[in-house]
Amino acid sequence: MPDPVISVKIGDLQMKNPVMTASGCYGYGEEYQDIVPLEAWGAVVVKGTTCAPREGNPPPRLVETPSGLINSVGLHNPGIETVIERELPRLGEKGVPVVVNLAGESEEEYIYLARRLEERAEVEAVELNISCPNVKKGGIAFGSDAVSAGKLVAKVRENFSRTLLVKLTPNVGNLPEIAGAVEKAGADALSLINTLRAMVIDIHAQKPVLPAGTGGLSGPAIKPVALRAVWEVTASVNVPVVGMGGIFTPEDAIEFILAGANAVAVGSAIFVNPRIPAEIVEGINSYMKQKGYENIGEMVGAARQ
Ligand code: SIN
Repeated sequence: MPDPVISVKIGDLQMKNPVMTASGCYGYGEEYQDIVPLEAWGAVVVKGTTCAPREGNPPPRLVETPSGLINSVGLHNPGIETVIERELPRLGEKGVPVVVNLAGESEEEYIYLARRLEERAEVEAVELNISCPNVKKGGIAFGSDAVSAGKLVAKVRENFSRTLLVKLTPNVGNLPEIAGAVEKAGADALSLINTLRAMVIDIHAQKPVLPAGTGGLSGPAIKPVALRAVWEVTASVNVPVVGMGGIFTPEDAIEFILAGANAVAVGSAIFVNPRIPAEIVEGINSYMKQKGYENIGEMVGAARQ
């Protein structure tokens, strides 16, 4: 029996396999290159990038919980110009599609960022981050309301011709409505989900462990929430969905695909298992053979039928 086809197309983003990095968990790929080679991924989604460099939030910015990690990074990044000069030329040589996650404080900033990347051939897609829970301005403020999310996406769409993904927050009560507005505004795909707002208290100091008070929870604890989000959103939108949130095993990734995701992204698991992309690809392959699927598209949303 020939190997099943696991290549995936999201908008114009052609990936040899459906496993992407989740933004923020793989930096710009450099530190990881020797342990989790870029070439293993279907696409590399880099750290949330802003107009100006950002130092991020004061430490500690990470706190472990029994089944997940809370981060309060605050979009620490070198800024778009450094990313263009230093990171993109290196990333562009690897033969793996590059997706840049973009975060702005205003519509103008998102538009500026998209325009700068429209000029760069190394970038196959952008992922608009309207869901970061760790910054005071922009981000999640756009992603928590269907009207402002739709308005922002429509403006960016006018300024960016390649594949446009939009990463949504689960910290809302009307996710399908927001997803619908973003689809209508011209997004090519949705990334579901960003982290869940969460906190830990130090009982000795009697204050939150994170100086910012709260952060965003990722990891196994949020997988059922993320699956539910993918399930609900794919019932009402037609654009492809990249599912993420607590994917640590091939079985986790398969669950997301059966729920309706066309591709998956891996975040926290990269920190504990460098071999994860190859393992997920292998697991999806054997599952498809076992179930008699020839093409991964056949299993998308199969749990719904
Ligand atoms: C951060 O940098 O604070 C995390 C990014 C995000 O949640 O989008």
